[in-house]
Amino acid sequence: MAATSSNQQITFPAGFIWGAATAAYQIEGAVEEDGRGESIWDTFCRVPGAVANGDNGDVACDHYHRFQEDIDLMSSLGIQAYRFSIAWPRILPEGIGKVNTTGLDFYDRLVDALLAKEIVPFVTLYHWDLPQALQDRGGWPNREIVEAFVNYTDVVTRRLGDRILHWSTHNEPFCIAWLGYGVGIHAPGLRDFQAAFQTAHHLLLSHGLAVPVIRTNGNSNTKVGIVVNPTWADPVTDSPEDRAAAMTFMAFQNRWFLDPLFSGIYPDSVLAMDGQHEPRITDGDMRAIAAPLDFLGINYYNRAVVGADDSDGPFPVRFYRPEGEYTEMDWEVYAPGIYNLLLWIQEQYAPTTVYITENGAAFRDEQSADGKIADYRRQVFLQDYIGQVDRAIQAGVPVRGYFVWSLLDNFEWSHGYTKRFGITHVDFRTLERTPKQSAEWYAQVIKQNGFSRAQS
Ligand code: GCO
Repeated sequence: MAATSSNQQITFPAGFIWGAATAAYQIEGAVEEDGRGESIWDTFCRVPGAVANGDNGDVACDHYHRFQEDIDLMSSLGIQAYRFSIAWPRILPEGIGKVNTTGLDFYDRLVDALLAKEIVPFVTLYHWDLPQALQDRGGWPNREIVEAFVNYTDVVTRRLGDRILHWSTHNEPFCIAWLGYGVGIHAPGLRDFQAAFQTAHHLLLSHGLAVPVIRTNGNSNTKVGIVVNPTWADPVTDSPEDRAAAMTFMAFQNRWFLDPLFSGIYPDSVLAMDGQHEPRITDGDMRAIAAPLDFLGINYYNRAVVGADDSDGPFPVRFYRPEGEYTEMDWEVYAPGIYNLLLWIQEQYAPTTVYITENGAAFRDEQSADGKIADYRRQVFLQDYIGQVDRAIQAGVPVRGYFVWSLLDNFEWSHGYTKRFGITHVDFRTLERTPKQSAEWYAQVIKQNGFSRAQS
């Protein structure tokens, strides 16, 4: 009898790291506790209309008080690494100057509790919660911030560099620059293209200058990287104009960050496209930015489908919305995009180690009467994307780990609590955590270092 279906077993390389990711402002809460200063997100959340429902991070998942429970949860799922970020305003309430040791103590306890469960900490130094005091001095567009970030990095890595061996400087410089300073949908809410380009430059420069500081405060096993969010763009048709638009979009979102990191130059194509907002660059900046990296972190969610736009704007690209499945963020579900992007990055930049530092999906989860959350669409989403990561590994891309976004439902920036990305459901009234079906599935993936997929 001929088999009508079989199971395809996907097994990841030995030592592959399975993790989960979060960020400080999205989960910690406790914004006024233990000497934490204000961040630009505290301020932005008070701007009428800036965040859905007027939500804010005052309580969030209350992880600040419940971190042990969250670590126990990760441990029960077998999660091997935890990517989290440190809140700069807890460490230096004014951004510079006086160190708040109580803030450092919190992360010290968190790290020790992770290590006690053999969960490897992967830390991001900047995941968007800039001390408000630094924004008051001009924020990222003001070059003074570079020194402030390097100083903050020094303070944190002196204290934690003996136990944290995986450091990322920034999370998604593209979003910080463009969403925060260019189009104003994230804190601090500025709409100024010059400020956005200058922010991007200062983020990259502060990254490059922080890298040697992290190494000095670490040991021979310390690994340093940065987390970016490059997009894969497909042209809407095969015409040369639409293909050129896809390249333009990838130059703007991807090359603007990756070219300087890997070869110390900004892409001419973007400079030519936007002649007016070129950032101010000082001698030596580009060399500093290209400091060798131990790994590249990639956050990937969705592709762009674009075509030529002949209107007069500075950015000659139009966006299309192909038929298909979309998440609650209105992001297209299209798993091959992550494969295409990973291959493109490998061909263009050849990073020695890649981590998928975020990938996941927001869906409208239904809780059944018995309290269970059968989030089958998220499970399928993860399975398809992880399957494409495996394909990329087979094709030679050195992906060494994968972090699901996110461990918990949390504060989704301008969407407040309306978009749930967690593999764990959080009841924002009681703060009760309930692992979803996708969490149980992910636990199996970790246990088997892969999964089997039904094939017909
Ligand atoms: C991001 C952020 C996350 C988001 C996630 C979903 O990196 O954009 O790191 O904080 O919550 O990407 O939008």
